[in-house]
This record gives sequence, structure tokens and C-alpha cells, in this order.
Amino acid sequence: MKINQSNIKKAKKYLDNNKCIAVPTETVYGLAANAYNSLAVKKIFRLKKRPKSNPLIVHYSNLSKLKKDCFINDNFIKLFRKFCPGPITFILKLKKNSKISNHVTNNKKTLAIRFPKHRTLRILLNSINYPLAAPSANITTRLSAVQASDVKEEFGKKIDYILDGGKSKVGMESTIVTLINSPKILRLGGLDVLKIEKILQKKLKIDTNPLKKKFPGQSRLHYSPGIPVRIKIDKPKKNEAYILIKKRAIKSQHYYYLTKNKNLKEAARNLYTCLRKIKKKGYKSIAVEKIPNIGVGKSINDRLNRASKFK
Ligand code: TXA
Ligand code: MG
Repeated sequence: MKINQSNIKKAKKYLDNNKCIAVPTETVYGLAANAYNSLAVKKIFRLKKRPKSNPLIVHYSNLSKLKKDCFINDNFIKLFRKFCPGPITFILKLKKNSKISNHVTNNKKTLAIRFPKHRTLRILLNSINYPLAAPSANITTRLSAVQASDVKEEFGKKIDYILDGGKSKVGMESTIVTLINSPKILRLGGLDVLKIEKILQKKLKIDTNPLKKKFPGQSRLHYSPGIPVRIKIDKPKKNEAYILIKKRAIKSQHYYYLTKNKNLKEAARNLYTCLRKIKKKGYKSIAVEKIPNIGVGKSINDRLNRASKFK
């Protein structure tokens, strides 16, 4: 999609006026506001119906801006060099003199940060002198938005502006790694954990168990299309939508395909759009065939698992 400078200027104006707007990222759309301004940040929580206790990710365009707010360490530098900008979020120690609003972190001493790759958003971030707090642009527990029309569907007229950046290329939220003490994965996402392990040269603990979570963002009921989802299904019920990893010879009007050739990145990119489409068609339930549990397939399975908890 072409860069539209006048839309970026419009978005900047809203943000400079402490409004909360939707912005594109390569993972999913975000609901963004000035991370240094409590009034602006509070609007995000209200619009998203997000519990105050669930902290936000802050988005930066470069390292020198980040260093004003957080302490960095060797592991961070290694991962930053390899993967940023890109679909990875880091938990770092917050500096005491940082200007980040207490509402972003719910008064915690750590901060989730990320360098998004989407060109439109990078131009916007470079044009403002504050970082952007932005959770995914969906109502809490619902499916994330991967295009401007999804955001519109979620918020309607309640949102002042949506900066359209086309369809998100990764289509799944960032992978979250905490670099406080020894590195650990807190959320599976768009970046394969194996790639992170290769750079850090160690196996990482994956700590995404929703029952142990202090943060409701990893809660069990999440990423739900709002109708029951049954996973690892060989035979769907009559009149149930059936999601398959790749195109099949047998055709049915109830079959939905995630990919042409079983490419898991493609499947991740299409997952949320596919679930939204099925919901809109009025199906009462969704069955999904078994998805290979490798690479980003693990992230897809994580989302489907959580979605399947909706009853
Ligand atoms: O790809 C993404 O990460 C998207 C785009 C918009 O950047 N953002 C996103 O944000 O997925 P959100 O708010 O939907 O998910 C952020 C997750 C939540 O589960 C939250 O609990 C966790 O990050 N988080 C935020 N701050 C944290 C912290 N200090 N320690 C641990 N987890 C944290
Ligand atoms: Mg989210």
C-alpha cells in the first residue's frame, strides 16, 4: 500500500491533541496514544474496556528514544540487532526518571516495548516526540484487527481516526520476551521462538500459562471470535464451519482454507481474517483441523487454544 503523507499528518494531529487513534503495524492494528500523557493513555483503556491492571506495549522508532525510558542489556542488544524493527516485544526495566505515564504500566517497574516495522507507522513515530502506547485494536478478549475495516467493526464511531496502512503482513501479535533476569518467553507470536533461541544461544522457558499469569492479557479467554471454537477436529459437525490448513480436493461450502500450500506464516497471516469472516456469515460454531505445532504454528495453536475456551 502506498504511503499517504497527508493521512499521517492527520494522525499526528490527533495524537498531539491527546486523542486515541488506530494505527497499522506489521503484526496487528494498534489503539495508540501518547505514552507520556496519562489523559491520552486512559482513553485507550476506556475504549478497549481493558482492565487497568493490564499494562500496555510502548512503540518506539529508534534506540536513543528508548534509552530515555528503559535500561537496556546485552541480550537486548543482540536481539535488537537481529530482529528490530519487527514482531518482537521486550520487557525491560523502566528508568525512574522516565516520562512514561504510570497508567501504561499500572505502576510497575518494568515496561513492554517494541519497534514496529510498518513503514507508515515508522514515519508517524519519527514525526512525534513521544512514544506510542498501543495495545491491539480490539475490545478486550476479542479477535485482534488486521485491517482498517476490522477496527471499524470493533469500535464503530467511538474511534476518532483510523490510519489505514493496508493489511498487516504478519497478522499475529508480536512474540513477547522478558529480559528481566534470565530471558523467558511470555507470549508466542509472529516471531518463531527458535530464532530467538538461536541468537541467545540458549533454550528459553516458555511461560505463557494463563493460570499463573499476573497479567490478564495472557488470560485463558482471549482471541475469541465470540462463537465456540473446537480444535484438532477430523470430522466437523453438520453446518459447522471447518477451517483447514490447506486447500483440499474435496469441496464444501463450509470449508475455509488458511493457505494454499501449508505455509505456516501464511496461515498465521490469514487466521484472524478467516475467523472474522466465519463469524460474520452467521455460523454457530467453528471446527479447526489439527495445525502442525512447529514454528509459528505454535503461535497459531496458542491462539486457537485460548479461543476454544469460549463457551
Ligand atoms: O503485536 C503486538 O504486540 C500488538 C501491536 C499493536 O504492537 N500489540 C499487542 O498489545 O498485542 P496487547 O496489549 O494486546 O498485548 C500486550 C501484552 C499483554 O498481554 C500484556 O499483559 C503484556 O503484553 N505486557 C505488557 N506490559 C508487560 C510487562 N511489563 N510485563 C509483562 N507483560 C506485559
Ligand atoms: Mg491484545
